[in-house]
Amino acid sequence: MTIAIERRSKTRQPAPELDVERVRRDFPALEQTVNGKPLVYLDNAASAQKPRAVVDAVARAYVEGYANVHRGVHALSQQATAAYEGAREIGRRFLGAAEAREIVFVRGSTEAINLVAQSFVRPRLNRGDEILITHMEHHSNIVPWQMLCAARGARLKVVPIDDDGALDLGAYERLLGPRTAIVSLVHVSNALGTINPVRELVALARERGIPTLIDGAQAAPHTAIDVGRLGCDFYTISGHKVFGPTGIGLLYGRAELLASMPPYQGGGEMIRSVSFDRTEYAEPPHKFEAGTPHIVGAIGLGVALEYVESLGIDAIDAYEHELLAYATERLAALPRLRLIGTAGQKAAVVSFVVDGVHAHDVGTILDHEGVAVRAGHHCAQPVMERFGVAATTRASFAFYNTRDEVDRLVAGVERVLEVFS
Ligand code: ALA
Repeated sequence: MTIAIERRSKTRQPAPELDVERVRRDFPALEQTVNGKPLVYLDNAASAQKPRAVVDAVARAYVEGYANVHRGVHALSQQATAAYEGAREIGRRFLGAAEAREIVFVRGSTEAINLVAQSFVRPRLNRGDEILITHMEHHSNIVPWQMLCAARGARLKVVPIDDDGALDLGAYERLLGPRTAIVSLVHVSNALGTINPVRELVALARERGIPTLIDGAQAAPHTAIDVGRLGCDFYTISGHKVFGPTGIGLLYGRAELLASMPPYQGGGEMIRSVSFDRTEYAEPPHKFEAGTPHIVGAIGLGVALEYVESLGIDAIDAYEHELLAYATERLAALPRLRLIGTAGQKAAVVSFVVDGVHAHDVGTILDHEGVAVRAGHHCAQPVMERFGVAATTRASFAFYNTRDEVDRLVAGVERVLEVFS
């Protein structure tokens, strides 16, 4: 079986080298043994490990300069506020946004999508309007829209994918219509690894005056993001997938859209003044950050994004691409193994099924070998249904994984084949 992971253009500037051994030393979690074997962590799409810089920054933020933000005249509060707002500025730079007020701290991509659904789309949505998503979405980019459609009598439309797991671009264009209220689609599929041509997809929507939301939760650890270049109206990432803390993420929203939207939640922090007769809201982004925020999470996320920047996203992209090509080639050569998701443009995610073996059994045997993968539907049940499987085993790579670890994965799958021969 030959699977073509597209080679990168020869005219592209060579990416700087990534020194993986040095990088691995930044991740204490990778030094563990699991079931008596050195850990091979290949569940990065579910959640990535954290560099020491993030762990230290989180500890420091709780010990030195900790207080609530935007509320105190005292030194610690001012220090915490500066660190929190500093992290917003790092987020702005990482996403390529023009202004820091376009960056809202959220719990993660799930909350960001719900926020856009409720604050931006809901007030504009009429009976019979359509919301366009794709067949490769994570549940977090399906369920909020289903809930909204049910509440407003709108219809969910789904762009099909082909047998490789690539988007049907012709169908996408045909489905963009006068009733499309928003296009909400994933940049990189968590279950398949497919990288969507987001810039082109956004341009097609924009030509028709249709707003766009891009779920970048799986894109942020692997590919460069520049919302200015992509032209989207909203973009979201989750901190824990990009080597930052859990419970924190970013929503980019075009300034004029955020300004036009009602708040998502009410409470402290998001107001300018409150009386029993009337409340005036704060300006974005604070209008969308009701309550005491995840201050330390935001600070940790800022450090994680700086860490990724310090390695260089082009170096990460080039390194992971080679790793993906190697893993794909080795796994595809195994008998009884079928890869799920073979699009030409992919991030470093390899999903597969082994004939006659449930994905949970594959995952359990791999775990005995010290190899951590995810087995299941990956919160993308429609993708599983599209490929006629209940579950897959998914190895998802980060820049700290190595070819030796791919060999350990392959040896583990060979063990599965032996056990279930
Ligand atoms: N969405 C996460 C995954 O892909 C949890 O595994």
